[in-house]
Amino acid sequence: MPDLSINFAGIKSPNPFWLASAPPTNSGYQVMKAFDAGWGGAVWKTLGVPVVNVSSRYGSINYRDTRMAGFNNIELITDRPLSDNLKEIEEVKKYFPDHAVIASLMVESQEEWQQIIKDVENAGADGIELNFGCPHGMCERGMGSAVGQEPEVLQTIVSWVMEVAQVPVITKLTPNISHIVDPGLAAVRGGTNAISLINTIKSIVGIDLDTYAPYPVVDGKGTNGGYCGPAVKPIALEMVKELTQHPEIKNTPVSGIGGIETWRDIVEFILLGAGSVQVCTAVMHYGFGIVREMEAGLVQFMNDKNYNTIYDFIGKALPNVTEWKHLNLKHKVVANINPQKCIGCDLCYIACDDGAHQAIKLDRTNGNRIPEIIDENCVGCNLCALVCPVEECITMEKRDDGKQHVTWDQRTQLDDIPTSFNDDRAGGKHHYVPTVQDALKHRSK
Ligand SMILES: Cc1cc2nc3c(=O)[nH]c(=O)nc-3n(C[C@H](O)[C@H](O)[C@H](O)COP(=O)(O)O)c2cc1C
Ligand code: SF4
Ligand code: SF4
Repeated sequence: MPDLSINFAGIKSPNPFWLASAPPTNSGYQVMKAFDAGWGGAVWKTLGVPVVNVSSRYGSINYRDTRMAGFNNIELITDRPLSDNLKEIEEVKKYFPDHAVIASLMVESQEEWQQIIKDVENAGADGIELNFGCPHGMCERGMGSAVGQEPEVLQTIVSWVMEVAQVPVITKLTPNISHIVDPGLAAVRGGTNAISLINTIKSIVGIDLDTYAPYPVVDGKGTNGGYCGPAVKPIALEMVKELTQHPEIKNTPVSGIGGIETWRDIVEFILLGAGSVQVCTAVMHYGFGIVREMEAGLVQFMNDKNYNTIYDFIGKALPNVTEWKHLNLKHKVVANINPQKCIGCDLCYIACDDGAHQAIKLDRTNGNRIPEIIDENCVGCNLCALVCPVEECITMEKRDDGKQHVTWDQRTQLDDIPTSFNDDRAGGKHHYVPTVQDALKHRSK
């Protein structure tokens, strides 16, 4: 059995599975239940200035058969009294001394920051997370994402915290910014021990077509909320990578958050450099029990790859994540259809003809329903393989001999790049496209 334990910036945890600061960590009851189910750590629902919440608070994107493919909330930080939370943190630590309890905090003035840090440390918190992420409500009061979007302010607050904190400090970033490295650098320069990301993405999930108010509707009105759940994972992965690849940030541990639901998601975040992961929406959807599948899957993965600890594969994907200009322009793949697997659904033909490069033909004579790839037209874009509903029916086959490797960057250095719209060295110049009139052949008689 591999060792799943971690030491994240000085915070020890029996495994990398942490609950993110959110409704599942709103009380000692929930955190104890989660630890009992197998979670290694919990970032307590943000403690801080007094708030009043609205009703209702959540909206979601139900994509076809999948409910809550994206989730949206307009909830604020905890509305429970600070003293109740502190008492419960203390109790949880008595029952679970080896699990990680991290107190998420959001207050305003230097005095308030320094006081609340003392309070949670006295209650026994193993670490602190600074919530600079909330994209609704709190930002209107100058906190949450209002801080996360202002690197200078963020750095100042982190340095106030670092002056007094006795336990490790994690700075949680908002994704609602064009360049995540800026607040990442500010956090590091402020002295943070670690970074976590992402908090929720500013969003409107939909409009009620009778009342014309955005969801969730509060007495006929709505507001932007924070988006999370499976839909945001790609954005979170990219932002984690931006930080873990950055020369000045890469030595600061990163806790990955955003759309995590399965062991596979967790492995992906770790491969991009995360040293722990945090989960909110998946637990709100399915409950604490999902951690069992996460653990079993992670153990199986580590056994298959002969990894003894998480540290054996943190960041292993990073050398393969490069800039576009370093990709090999000579690499060539072409789609291939396996006629034995094809169910004749036409999806690939329609997608390629209408949405890609007219590289699939479908000759319907004698009742034929199996499409054919026109090799010389195929640019290897992948679209047909992505739309095909049959696993492994369309595969992408390598057609270059692997001997040539030329990148845009190299071509730029050799002064061998197209310089005008009609330059012969431009990629698509001699590529086949049907004539304009060919479109009319598809008219129904
Ligand atoms: C209802 C709700 C309340 C949340 N409250 C907080 C909070 O109090 N503090 C915080 O730092 N993040 C809060 N978050 C953000 C989550 O901690 C997490 O960063 C985000 O949901 C992305 O993770 P997920 O895709 O696993 O949900 C909240 C999220 C939701 C859905
Ligand atoms: S890979 Fe792209 S261009 Fe090639 S057949 Fe498929 S959809 Fe068409
Ligand atoms: S999408 Fe797949 S199954 Fe459907 S016609 Fe194309 S190859 Fe066949």
